[in-house]
Amino acid sequence: MSALETFDIAAWTGPFADAERDAAIRALEGGQVLYLPHLPFVLSEKEKRLLTPDLFSGRAKNISLDPSGKLKHAAGADGDRALLQGMMQRFASGAVSLIEGLFPGYAPKLERARTSYRPVEIAGRKYSPVHDDTRLHVDAFPTRPMRGRRILRLFSNIHPGATPRVWNVGEPFAQMAEKILPRVKEPPPIAAWLRAATFQTRGVRSRYDDMMMGLHDQAKLNVDYQQATPKTEIAFPPGTTWLCYTDQVMHAALSGQYVLEQTFHLDVEAMAEPARAPLKVLERMTGRALV
Ligand code: SIN
Ligand code: FE
Repeated sequence: MSALETFDIAAWTGPFADAERDAAIRALEGGQVLYLPHLPFVLSEKEKRLLTPDLFSGRAKNISLDPSGKLKHAAGADGDRALLQGMMQRFASGAVSLIEGLFPGYAPKLERARTSYRPVEIAGRKYSPVHDDTRLHVDAFPTRPMRGRRILRLFSNIHPGATPRVWNVGEPFAQMAEKILPRVKEPPPIAAWLRAATFQTRGVRSRYDDMMMGLHDQAKLNVDYQQATPKTEIAFPPGTTWLCYTDQVMHAALSGQYVLEQTFHLDVEAMAEPARAPLKVLERMTGRALV
């Protein structure tokens, strides 16, 4: 199986052909990255002044837009912030339209989560090892328990020059979990309650959330694994879009600047093949219910 599946899609809105939709859901749920080289997110002339890292306030990792419309971690004058909000909103609408068109079975259960704008060059940014996204990982949220729900993310490279977003994609989820899971310690049951009671998490973490957080951290901290694991380097040029289940695909972002990203959450039951969800894979591996 190759890391990448390329699609000839050139519009954010369907209808898409049956064969294209079938191939897309098979690739997505199978753990591939769907690459859309002919689908740019185009900025207006006016919006081009948003292409500067100065818009980022420096707190948190990125600028984000809540589904409620609230902009976070953006600096700059009111006019620029309104322009930014409008651009991110338009990107979010395009992303919703594409995902609903390509995966109509998801539409009733699809939750649009945060939109992010990543205007800072990632190569050379300094982070602690568990926050370092240049190391291969699956996504897991430290403060938001997912209880098995999926994390689907869509990205567009909007760099005005020729700079690609460069990723590494690693081995399939189950193979990673076979290696890393033995290193993941099970926290005592009281820990999840304490975290929730002291508002470190929004609700109580399930065993699944502990495991996913553990896989995320232990994979990043394991330097031998990072070096030895098979990986494919992919360069996404400006003007392209790609998407994948980032809770399933081992990924690392090595370099690049100016990317827009939309996150979606989805119930496992809304998938065409729920058995492919990390929740189901981990339940089969451990022989227990994790939520
Ligand atoms: C990540 O999800 O690890 C980062 C992806 C990116 O910003 O390209
Ligand atoms: Fe990630």
